[in-house]
Amino acid sequence: MKKLLNLILLFSLSFWAMGQQFSSPNGELQLNFELKEGVPYYSLSYKNQPVILPSKLGLELKGKPDFTSGFESHEVTYADFDETWEPVWSEEKSIRNHYKEMTVTLQQGDDFENRTLVVRFRLFDDGLGFRYEFPSQPNLAHFIISDEKTQFAMAGDHTAFWIPGDYDTQEYDYVESKLSEIRPLMTQAITANVSQTSFSPTGVQTSLMMKTNEGLYINLHEADLIDYATMHLNLDDEKMIFESWLTPNANGDKVYLQSPSVSPWRTIIVSDDARDILVSRITYNLNEPNKIEDTSWIKPMKYVGVWWEMITGKSTWSYTDEFPAVKLGETDYSKAKPNGKHGATTANVKKHIDFAAEHGFDGVLVEGWNIGWEDWFGNAKDYVFDFVTPYPDFDLEGVRDYAKAKGVEMIMHHETSSSVRNYERQLDKAYQFMKDNGYNAVKSGYVGTILPFGDNHYSQWQVNHYQYAVEKAAEYQIMVNAHEAVRPTGIGRTYPNLIANESARGTEYQAFGGSKPNHVTVLPFTRQIGGPMDYTPGIFEMDISKLNPDNNSWVNSTIANQLALYVTMYSPLQMAADLPENYERFMDAFQFIKDVALDWDKSVYLEAEPGYYLTIARKEKGTGNWFLGNVNGNEGRTAEIKFDFLEEGKSYIATIYSDTKDAHFRNNPQSYEIRKVTVTKKSKLSQYSAPGGGFAISIMEAEKADLKGLKKS
Ligand code: NOJ
Ligand code: CA
Repeated sequence: MKKLLNLILLFSLSFWAMGQQFSSPNGELQLNFELKEGVPYYSLSYKNQPVILPSKLGLELKGKPDFTSGFESHEVTYADFDETWEPVWSEEKSIRNHYKEMTVTLQQGDDFENRTLVVRFRLFDDGLGFRYEFPSQPNLAHFIISDEKTQFAMAGDHTAFWIPGDYDTQEYDYVESKLSEIRPLMTQAITANVSQTSFSPTGVQTSLMMKTNEGLYINLHEADLIDYATMHLNLDDEKMIFESWLTPNANGDKVYLQSPSVSPWRTIIVSDDARDILVSRITYNLNEPNKIEDTSWIKPMKYVGVWWEMITGKSTWSYTDEFPAVKLGETDYSKAKPNGKHGATTANVKKHIDFAAEHGFDGVLVEGWNIGWEDWFGNAKDYVFDFVTPYPDFDLEGVRDYAKAKGVEMIMHHETSSSVRNYERQLDKAYQFMKDNGYNAVKSGYVGTILPFGDNHYSQWQVNHYQYAVEKAAEYQIMVNAHEAVRPTGIGRTYPNLIANESARGTEYQAFGGSKPNHVTVLPFTRQIGGPMDYTPGIFEMDISKLNPDNNSWVNSTIANQLALYVTMYSPLQMAADLPENYERFMDAFQFIKDVALDWDKSVYLEAEPGYYLTIARKEKGTGNWFLGNVNGNEGRTAEIKFDFLEEGKSYIATIYSDTKDAHFRNNPQSYEIRKVTVTKKSKLSQYSAPGGGFAISIMEAEKADLKGLKKS
């Protein structure tokens, strides 16, 4: 009977070739699917405005007929879904996953080997996710995707916040421009020899944030990137159509699959209010539920580290300037001449452990503790690091016992130098070594060209490597913070031991020439759509030459802006990145970093405009305390804040850390003021932020707060 019904449905659809429409739960988003002359198209509208004009779907296969045309019929089924789930860590206690689903089963005819392709669409109130599914079938067992041809046709020449398409790095400043300006700007950058390697003069990375002339905010990204190549976008700037551009493997092929299998979800988040882009949890909702049964060992962490001193060039990762590490394990480092600048010495690490213990930090990261840093980069060394052998001036056991006695966790560092073979060969040994020495978290890194040569950071095989490292870490109950790995796509829902990634331009660039002052107003709309970022904020000394006279870089930010980042750059892993001696100079401001929470019951997005400003308030998990952060772009601005998110009938003590009137990211970054006032649900605040500045507020329940310095509000 069911078969018969399906048959009738199928015949009627192919005969009239009419489109299928369905709406989001609240009816504001509408999706239309249509098969025109054998080619599948979709389009999307929001409150009757076009978001995606009719756009083609499909994939090209190597050595086989394509999945782009020749579809003779299609069958459609619908479903509803509504659940609420509790994340292990997040911006809120629970997340609602509410969507309507339309599944289209497309059938090719004789000329195309009678194959079947499924496209599954999920419409949420805040956007669309869709993916390709390749059911098991006689004429499609193993296959190679030579290109994915998913289109995203824009309805105008939108403003975009973009970074160049690149197979190996995301560490760019964002450019704000019209879509039509991408080509000239990118061409200029290439001519000016700016480090960028786009595969096309109109190729950009996701997550891509756009704003239309009509005030719609549109975000394009992907979710659940597993066993597939990373998607970039290539713009046809005459027609304003983006097309998916997958990162190739070493041989130029894009994806190797075996049916049954699926592609990642392609996501389109849309709203007429920029704040909704930050509220959206589409990316997490389109990932599989948590696969780790016992999550008691996954804990948010605030940490300091032996790190900024190397990034600024004040000290070195390596112990010696000689090159003794000809072959790992066969070099006697005790015979090497120390360079006198090694950061990870026992004494320096103990100093950091003391500082962490004194100020209530959970952990200390140490980089440059293991042998191999003399020639770690740019030499294509296969056996580059061994992850278990400390330099002679780092007493691993002594440090381990010292940290334990002080109640501080050590965070391991695994720089792989992108010798991925080397890392995988040693992963079990490296993780076991961590557990044997009490390390429960690792910061990994993938600097440099991938080995074996020819492969790219974001190819299918590398995506599989990062995933393997995270899943293997889960077996050892280890939390992972991967730098230079592929940008996240919500996998932290499924594997919450992936507590952060860098995978974008982090604070380190403030010591490599500086980032744009408004960079941090863009990141939450782009990189952070996929998950938390280990941005490593908390820099108080902006003049890097004070740390290293040979480094003239400048941190384009104010101290108040640095404080706000602990709220605006969501992450369950937060570093206080500056040197302890720089915090000692500004202990009153440092108090905010000590107080600020890492895990949240609730987040309220008060103001948002990508590239310009962002104000977020968050309620600490399990307490009545709130923390509020505002980051500001290139121009000074006054925020108007209502405290109506606070609990009725309660009184709170707000400590406001703000820029002074004459503060400025370039000329006067350390000029801040701190005031304490009483606030209630009825309170309002007009608060100025300097160019590249911001403000941070801790809002503590009055009965528990420190009332010293309290002024009448
Ligand atoms: C780049 C990372 O982003 C940085 O944090 C790290 O210190 C260096 N690689 C060395 O591993
Ligand atoms: Ca990096």
